[in-house]
Amino acid sequence: MVLKIEPLNIRQHIRSDFSCGKDSLDNYIRKQASQDLKRRVATVFVLVDEPDFNVLAYYTLSSYTIDITALDESFAKHLPRYPLLPATLLGRLAVDYRQTGRRFGELMLIDALRKSLDVSTQVASLAVVAEALDEEALSFYIKYGFRQFTQNPMKLYLPVKSIAEL
Ligand SMILES: CC(C)(COP(=O)(O)OP(=O)(O)OC[C@H]1O[C@@H](n2cnc3c(N)ncnc32)[C@H](O)[C@@H]1OP(=O)(O)O)[C@@H](O)C(=O)NCCC(=O)NCCS
Repeated sequence: MVLKIEPLNIRQHIRSDFSCGKDSLDNYIRKQASQDLKRRVATVFVLVDEPDFNVLAYYTLSSYTIDITALDESFAKHLPRYPLLPATLLGRLAVDYRQTGRRFGELMLIDALRKSLDVSTQVASLAVVAEALDEEALSFYIKYGFRQFTQNPMKLYLPVKSIAEL
């Protein structure tokens, strides 16, 4: 068995059984992800243990913009006063409940951050933004250095500059 993170292939990867305990995240990978991929709204990456193609975890990435006024002053003061700034959205990240505690969440997060960092050398992005569904998800992201937006504390960002250090 070989763990692999791959772009979602709707003909190959099995999503029907995915369950992380959050209906919105389960329904997304089962029903919505293929549409988002087709419409270029998000890229979707899945973790599988080949030759088994059941999805064990997934995340999505998209381009995004941040309103400069939403950033905390210590970060914003180093930035140009453009009204909107480029970012990368880590829209969703979830691990199947039967796999929790195997550090798959960390593996997927680090892979998403590495891809975001790589892509930012071609298309600029100053931060990765994530949205936490609840307090648990919030503490997961904070653990990895994400900072909360002041106006919306369930939304977090990690400056791309910090990713290389992480
Ligand atoms: C949150 C989630 C992605 C974590 O995945 P996981 O594979 O269980 O976590 P890992 O094994 O990689 O844990 C890595 C670290 O994060 C911590 N952690 C895991 N889940 C956590 C949680 N819910 N809250 C706070 N910390 C958490 C672990 O204790 C571990 O810390 P350690 O280094 O001190 O041991 C997963 O539980 C999940 O999919 N939950 C439901 C969906 C969700 O909430 N997604 C978040 C985006 S909205």
